[in-house]
Amino acid sequence: MKLGRLNHIGVVTPSIPDSITHWRDVMGATKIHDPFDLPAQGVKVCFVDTPADGPTSGTQIELIEPLGADSPIHGFLSKNPLGGQHHICFEVPDIHVAEAEFEAMNKRVLGEPRIGAHGTLIFFVHPKDMGGMLTEIMETPKDH
Ligand code: CO
Repeated sequence: MKLGRLNHIGVVTPSIPDSITHWRDVMGATKIHDPFDLPAQGVKVCFVDTPADGPTSGTQIELIEPLGADSPIHGFLSKNPLGGQHHICFEVPDIHVAEAEFEAMNKRVLGEPRIGAHGTLIFFVHPKDMGGMLTEIMETPKDH
């Protein structure tokens, strides 16, 4: 496994508008993208940029709010009513190579690679195989 850039940290929130206020007014975020729905994943997401480091864009915060009654995020919010840190996401050059590498190390890949919030293929690795951290692996967008 070749560790790539930390693309984003996923943060669950009961209210994306309230979280936008927090990131803007408390944390000083100046670039906050428009929220959008990911119905296949049962979530609404909103990306908050941190400053860019050189030509590469900065690590983002991915705000995640449940979408619909069947959203998998409801369980997280019932245990953590304020929301909180949900997953970390690292980039890799080739998603299928990374999937094979994790499986060869007996790490549980959750489902098949699918299109994620940035429009490239992603998969998640089980937190129990990753030191307690739900880990998203994402193919680097081609325009990076
Ligand atoms: Co994510």
